[in-house]
Amino acid sequence: MRKNIVAGNWKMNNDLSETETLISNLLKQKQTSNAEVMIAPTAVNLYQAFNSTKNSNIEVIAQNMHFADNGAYTGEVSASMLKSVGIQTVILGHSERRAYFNETDELLAKKVDAALKNNMRVIFCFGEELADRKAGNEEKVVENQIKNALFHLDAAAFKNIVLAYEPVWAIGTGETASPEQAQDMHQFIRKTLNNKYGEQVSQDMTILYGGSVKPANAKEIFGKQDVDGGLIGGASLKAEDFIAIVNAF
Ligand code: 13P
Repeated sequence: MRKNIVAGNWKMNNDLSETETLISNLLKQKQTSNAEVMIAPTAVNLYQAFNSTKNSNIEVIAQNMHFADNGAYTGEVSASMLKSVGIQTVILGHSERRAYFNETDELLAKKVDAALKNNMRVIFCFGEELADRKAGNEEKVVENQIKNALFHLDAAAFKNIVLAYEPVWAIGTGETASPEQAQDMHQFIRKTLNNKYGEQVSQDMTILYGGSVKPANAKEIFGKQDVDGGLIGGASLKAEDFIAIVNAF
């Protein structure tokens, strides 16, 4: 089923005490929408965050994970480790992982498989760079990212996948895709899914938009037919701003 989701990607921000403060401020805000709310703190604070949000509607999710179950991968965290501290959902394929940690579509396909094998839900991110858009290649780039990492899956697997379109040129830049640009791409993504998996998978898919979403523009972006929610970076670091975005539904 298609859902409304607002997820805060904290990236590499907030130490333990800042994590506790932000969560306690989030819990004080009044949520007036039915959107699912998620926050993704840094790995080292996931356990604490999970415990601090236990009696709330906030789901704590991970920003990344490795594809192996365990082994000689110094510095990495596996799906089963995330699950052992209560985490059920993981963000994969964020453009910062692709750009700074050389994550390729092929690697991401393995990560997606590992997450699904462990019964986790995946928020799969993708999006074109500015040069792609200037060259008119944004649809081709997005289509390839989705195909290469996800199209080996069967239709049933998509029940545990949420897509997040994040145009790289709109991340942390203050430059948001216009609501029409977001809608056009989301519609294209649904069409791409429809071509491969049919109407049911494409209509049930939750597709989030990410890139400079703030309280001032959330309502207009979320108002578009094929935009089912947001993946929020900078504005998720302030409790009032983040819940204002949640309440934009
Ligand atoms: P900003 O909201 O800071 O542009 O970041 C978006 C993002 O990358 C969320 O994953």
